[in-house]
Amino acid sequence: MIINRKILTLDEFTIQQLRQFPSATGELSSLLRDIGLAAKRINVEVNKAGLVDILGDAGSVNVQGEDVKKLDIYANNQLMGVLKHGISCAGIGSEELDDVVVFDDEVSNNSKYVVLFDPLDGSGNIDVNISIGTIFGVYRRISELGKPCTKEDFLQPGNRQVAAGYVVYGSSTMLVYATRRGVNGFTLDPAIGEFCLSHPDIKCPPSGRIYSVNHGNFFQYDEGVKSYITACQKKDKTNGGPYTQRYIGSMVADVHRNLIKGGIFMYPGTIDKPKGKLRLMYECNPFAFITEVAGGKATNGKERVLDIQPTELHQRSAYFVGSKDMMEELESHYKK
Ligand code: AHG
Repeated sequence: MIINRKILTLDEFTIQQLRQFPSATGELSSLLRDIGLAAKRINVEVNKAGLVDILGDAGSVNVQGEDVKKLDIYANNQLMGVLKHGISCAGIGSEELDDVVVFDDEVSNNSKYVVLFDPLDGSGNIDVNISIGTIFGVYRRISELGKPCTKEDFLQPGNRQVAAGYVVYGSSTMLVYATRRGVNGFTLDPAIGEFCLSHPDIKCPPSGRIYSVNHGNFFQYDEGVKSYITACQKKDKTNGGPYTQRYIGSMVADVHRNLIKGGIFMYPGTIDKPKGKLRLMYECNPFAFITEVAGGKATNGKERVLDIQPTELHQRSAYFVGSKDMMEELESHYKK
């Protein structure tokens, strides 16, 4: 009799990982499962987004007489809710909120971690049915256990992350997370409502043929970036011909594709906005961590993103992330 290969759910996988560390408390596994639960709830609402016209616009009252919330606020509240009620998180910072939220209660004050997240990245794409995502980074707090967490717990450089991940709500819904031990991807099986391990031990190919950048800003970029983009377009037959340009405008989807297929994603500074658009704490650091664990690189054009000491929660950074060889070629254009 042939027995089907066992499919590991996210919960089973995190528990198996935990067993390899007899001294582990299980707090990180629990936190990842909490985020998985929020992702499933957000997924349900994202899938209904096209029905907003029938059910009622955000901010209005729908036909059932319920308030219709904006999806990004809904996603924010779901993540905040699971993390507040879980056992692992002392507080959160969110792209949607002006300041951090400290969960000042007995369980949370004894929790080891704080989480920073962008609840719904690419939300401008919701109305047109294009993939969007959730991004998160997990830090071990540096303040004293037993007391409420502090702002300093959040203002740590990205290299202090213990885990980071994202959820992409696309043609299927996937949750990908990294710890220092590796990157693993789970696809949501809608039949059973579970994330199932589908992409074990993801490695970013050292090179690729895809570059992702907003070409509309080309003349606003500095010379290093313009020179690299031009080089991507001028690859000749000896090196496989010009690279392919792919830019969705949802970073989660763009970086996810490049992580799997090999490629480079760029959101450089422009003349008007020298620090670009992306937020260091919520968007750049988690993807820099995931990509580095998978074998790739991430910089702001001058230094490793994960080494930037943040000074404020919502600070922005120019951003380049992707396959190692492509990143090194970009760096060589900057040096020129
Ligand atoms: P938002 O969540 O406001 O839609 O921003 C999305 C981010 C990121 O996901 C994407 O890569 C980038 O902004 C696109 O910005 P441009 O439209 O300026 O290229």
